[in-house]
Amino acid sequence: MAPFTATTSAPVNIACIKYWGKRDTKLILPTNSSLSVTLDQDHLRSTTTSRADPSFQKDRLWLNGVEEEIKTGGRTATCIAEMKKMRKELVEDLDASAPPLSTYSVHIASYNNFPTAAGLASSASGFAALTASLAALYALPTPPTTLSLIARQGSGSACRSLLGGFVAWNAGELPSGLDSHAVQVAPETHWPDIHALICVVSDHKKGTSSTSGMQRTVETSPLLQHRIKHCVPQRMADISAAIHARDFDRFAEITMADSNQFHAVCLDTAPPIFYMNDVSRAIIAVIEEYNRVALLPENGGKRKAAYTYDAGPNAVIYAPAANMKEIISMILHYFPQQDAFKDPFGLFGTAGAGS
Ligand code: DP6
Repeated sequence: MAPFTATTSAPVNIACIKYWGKRDTKLILPTNSSLSVTLDQDHLRSTTTSRADPSFQKDRLWLNGVEEEIKTGGRTATCIAEMKKMRKELVEDLDASAPPLSTYSVHIASYNNFPTAAGLASSASGFAALTASLAALYALPTPPTTLSLIARQGSGSACRSLLGGFVAWNAGELPSGLDSHAVQVAPETHWPDIHALICVVSDHKKGTSSTSGMQRTVETSPLLQHRIKHCVPQRMADISAAIHARDFDRFAEITMADSNQFHAVCLDTAPPIFYMNDVSRAIIAVIEEYNRVALLPENGGKRKAAYTYDAGPNAVIYAPAANMKEIISMILHYFPQQDAFKDPFGLFGTAGAGS
């Protein structure tokens, strides 16, 4: 019998409008909608292989080669159970000759090609790849938006990594969560000129996980209520319009405002949560100064870069491709690298040749 196996990979996404807070912690239903860019290059991905076999005794999972316990009723167990249910209902119940994969245990191996849990959204690509690989294994005829309902229950931000380009996660209103899914706002081909620079300030595991941090914010932050009601809905509409119009100046303005407000609600949490460090804040100062000069009428009057920070100290800088060389030079000038700089994009002539 041919082995039942499938391998799929999913990229990291970086939010411009941040998800922070759940109204239902079991179904992972958010307190506000969010919007992200799915990074489309090979550097930041999870690759996951799933295999089903009648001889397997139980579902098992390996992350970067190390076996992780699948806790009963936990997020991974929920995703696997939901995918088996879809296999049964959408394939086996309709075709008596389909192998009964929903009754077999699965073995799942996943690799990240970047530091896990350093604020680089490894759970997002991880649960997106897990859901996509089970969908491929089970030959499900299911569109990514429907799969996003399952990936969401692994990690909220994972639902956005199933789609490419610019992706919104609509918070939804139904208690069932059936309307809390990801949708593509625009494909990557709509605005390929936007590039992302990841500045790894630290690759250590973060102190407060997103999951526990955001719950503490929901329980204690008055500012979060203001953000949910009075800021995010307008920002979602405005940034979607900026994306459709390819208006980088407006996109940058909203992205930076939302990152800063997200970190403000972290500070408004009791006890407060600090994700950024002094280097993170110094990068903000550099980009703010870069934009201040760019905004002068004689320089065109438009922002040239946008920073954003997730639940960690690492900066992601979005900018039109034409500005990236200048931005990288500036970052390297103010933050000289200890290790020889590797130049993945070939921007610096011989500096990274052959590396
Ligand atoms: C700051 O999706 O990791 O990156 O749903 O509890 O797994 P859980 O949280 P997670 O939170 C991500 C928070 C964020 C913002 C974002 O990606 O929108």
